[in-house]
Amino acid sequence: MIYLNNAATSFPKPKEVQDAVMASFSGPLVHASRTGLEREDDDIVYLCRTRLADLFNIEDPLQIVFTSGSTEALNLAIKGLPLEGGNVVITAIEHNSVIRPLKTLEKEGKITVTVVECDRNGYVYPEQIAEAIRDDTRAVVVNHCSNVTGAVLNIAEISKIAHSAGAYFIVDASQSAGAIPIDCKNWDIDLLAFTGHKSLFGIQGIGGLYIKKGIEPKPLKVGGTGILSELLLQPEGMPIHYEAGTPNTPGIISLYAGVQFLLQTGLDKIIEHKKKLYQILFDELGDNPDIEIYSPTEHTSYSNFCFNVKGMVPEEVGYVLEASFDIWVRTGLHCAPLLLPYLGVEPWGTVRASHSYFTTEEEIYKFIDAVRKITLIPKRK
Ligand SMILES: Cc1ncc(COP(=O)(O)O)c(C=O)c1O
Repeated sequence: MIYLNNAATSFPKPKEVQDAVMASFSGPLVHASRTGLEREDDDIVYLCRTRLADLFNIEDPLQIVFTSGSTEALNLAIKGLPLEGGNVVITAIEHNSVIRPLKTLEKEGKITVTVVECDRNGYVYPEQIAEAIRDDTRAVVVNHCSNVTGAVLNIAEISKIAHSAGAYFIVDASQSAGAIPIDCKNWDIDLLAFTGHKSLFGIQGIGGLYIKKGIEPKPLKVGGTGILSELLLQPEGMPIHYEAGTPNTPGIISLYAGVQFLLQTGLDKIIEHKKKLYQILFDELGDNPDIEIYSPTEHTSYSNFCFNVKGMVPEEVGYVLEASFDIWVRTGLHCAPLLLPYLGVEPWGTVRASHSYFTTEEEIYKFIDAVRKITLIPKRK
């Protein structure tokens, strides 16, 4: 099997991650603070926060809250902030985990949502976000990196625009975390949602939300914390205020091992490898007249090759890739329905091939060969 669906979930995981998760089952999984012992120096949960803080340039690791993934993190940010009565600006490249919570609030009459358009590669110009901001805009929510085309937005610039309007600035880093640099401090990000199972190499079911000091969304859930049990209300303080319930310790262990792998390998080296494969894809398929490519050559994570074969719907291409060549890609709308008209791919969407640090050049050439063969299939009139 050639796995080119890393934008959905990464495979394989580094051996270090596999080993760490397996080892976690050899003893009782009890988070240190739940035993009453606060041993921050060897508490894997705390260590994981510190490694994530290193990766995202966050000053205080305790400002990172663990969640089940980006979806929960984005729901916490969107539902927890005081947005009622105001407007929220988003972009056409948002994922349904941003669109749906906001559209639900809009349907309930609580907010209005403005969608800023993107170009045909999924890039959103900061100036257009500035133009969309209104007097009542309370938040700007943007996807750092399109999960469809791989386009990367200028977060530093958009942050300035959001803050000069007095709006919260929320970033969906699901695709960018572990794939490209993120700098919460220098980009002045208010809330950053990330998921563990993509480029951070963790397992599914773990992710988190960074919340800048001084910002206090309402918790999405309240309940047991293992400490301060005498309190009948959710304890204050970070991160416990947001972490009710038994934590996903195997998930956190996997995330720690994944981020350690990333930091030890070096993000630059990982990007370099993906860039090389991306270049090969464009060199070999870039001017093929039977293929339409939607991924950009600049402002990119170098991770997604998004395309269509002319005269075929994406599902057909995906089916042939899998059935005849054992190559796994993703086809369709990719949970980003607002993007379709801007790419000109209504109603079927696109084919997305997403490689990882573990994808080899040989695999990429096999994929290219398979796509070329598919372009030769006689098309419907
Ligand atoms: C851009 C983007 N946002 C949010 C999510 C949701 O992540 P999760 O399903 O891990 O919560 C994804 C995952 O596909 C994504 O690509």
